[in-house]
Amino acid sequence: MDEKEAISGHFRDDFLWGTATASYQIEGGWNEDGKSQSVWDKHAHTEGKIDDQTNGDIACDSYHKYKDDVQIMKNLKVNSYRLSLSWSRLLPTGDSSAPNAAGVAYYNKLIDNLLENNIKPCVTLYHWDLPQCLHENGGWQSDDIVEKFKEYANFCFNAFGDRVKLWITINEPHVNATLGYGLGHHAPGIMGRKYAVCFRRLDYLKNIYIPDPMNACYMVSRTMLLAHAAAWHEYDTNYRSKQNGMVSISLNSDWAEPKDASNPKDAAAAIEYLQCSLGWFANPIFGSGDFPVYMREHIAQKSKEEGLSKSRLPEFSEEEIKYIKGTYDFFGLNHYTTRLCEQLNEHNEMHKFHPDLDVILLPDPTWDRAGSLWLYIVPWGLRRLLKYISKTYGNPKIIITENGCSTKHDPNATSGLAVLEDTQRCNYLKSYINEALKAVVQDGVDLRGYFAWSLLDNFEWKAGYTERFGIHYVDFKDPERKRTPRKSAAVFREIIVENGFK
Ligand code: GAL
Repeated sequence: MDEKEAISGHFRDDFLWGTATASYQIEGGWNEDGKSQSVWDKHAHTEGKIDDQTNGDIACDSYHKYKDDVQIMKNLKVNSYRLSLSWSRLLPTGDSSAPNAAGVAYYNKLIDNLLENNIKPCVTLYHWDLPQCLHENGGWQSDDIVEKFKEYANFCFNAFGDRVKLWITINEPHVNATLGYGLGHHAPGIMGRKYAVCFRRLDYLKNIYIPDPMNACYMVSRTMLLAHAAAWHEYDTNYRSKQNGMVSISLNSDWAEPKDASNPKDAAAAIEYLQCSLGWFANPIFGSGDFPVYMREHIAQKSKEEGLSKSRLPEFSEEEIKYIKGTYDFFGLNHYTTRLCEQLNEHNEMHKFHPDLDVILLPDPTWDRAGSLWLYIVPWGLRRLLKYISKTYGNPKIIITENGCSTKHDPNATSGLAVLEDTQRCNYLKSYINEALKAVVQDGVDLRGYFAWSLLDNFEWKAGYTERFGIHYVDFKDPERKRTPRKSAAVFREIIVENGFK
């Protein structure tokens, strides 16, 4: 049988089917009812940061329209919903002894409404919208944040854990660290010194140079891992026995395929890339407790070559390693796309994109592209990644906490075929979910759930509203922010109702 052919079959009876969103991307109500500013409010309000000069001030207005969201989910037949909490809505000063009652009430109403409709909430504590006041006190660049995050997690477990049984501490620390503290495309917009050097050849970045000898993105990866571990331990020690839920983290990863599978250098390049991207966060939590050996040695060597007295990658103490290792109840995976890898050489060095990686990542020119520049459609990559995670990290329970496909938004289209007939997204969902099914039935991967990104078109970070990921179209020109199902909503519903493929 052709490996690429779709199979029929079913997922587990208790499989979680859901859609995913994030607070800043959908809620709006950015300064309502006592919410304080987050780093994303500040960033999006800064001129020149967002491609279409928009922001999440109103977004999908889910702060007021959450019942509409729940109804469209009910129609979809999902049994779960992944949402994130806005830290600055719940704890405007970052202090858990001064919570914002209106913020707590909002999430209570949303959670209760979901449960009344038989939809289980899966709650992310932090999807990148750090309270601005905490950022101003050092944020992820200061060790104090670990205690602050623990306090916040404790507050949320206490307030919502009687009803929320699935928690995600941090969404995609890799993206948050590299885009927020390395490339500067995301809040808080810090650009690492080495990234600046690497990207200076790009015209639009020519004049940007922020010296950052501390290399912020590695520093924040350390505090994020410690904060995640602190939240997991808090739950494990104080809540697990009475609340009986699960806590983990959502890590993003592309699949990395050797450009030429018969070339050992390409095979090594793919592994090196996976070690320094997925492994950066997965190895500490799901593996040895520390950053991957390759990553540590490689960055230490690079740092030495630069004349630095110690590695730019921070070190964990023995005690910290023990504290981080094993802090998971499942593996949360966000996956969208795949790249071909080859070792850096004199012919390809113009494609070097990462200051510390001697690996070149390229798409196969025959792959279909979605509406985001980075998103190539490669369904088999998901199966290979699931297999890799299962093998590398001891066959954990895996939940796909994000997977989805974008369309480029045509600002003149408001309805009809152009926005609702999303054939590419329909095929994306069918083919990726089918590959996930192959991973389960043919490779023995322990997959427990799948969340499509996203329930709604929403504020796509730097791309603003120019890229749409929703299985529901949202008209952002309409003050009512009307939601209309796309064809992909019906396709997803069919898969859910069948719990797989006929
Ligand atoms: C993820 C992120 C989401 C969403 C998605 C599509 O990295 O967690 O918030 O934006 O990508 O780009």
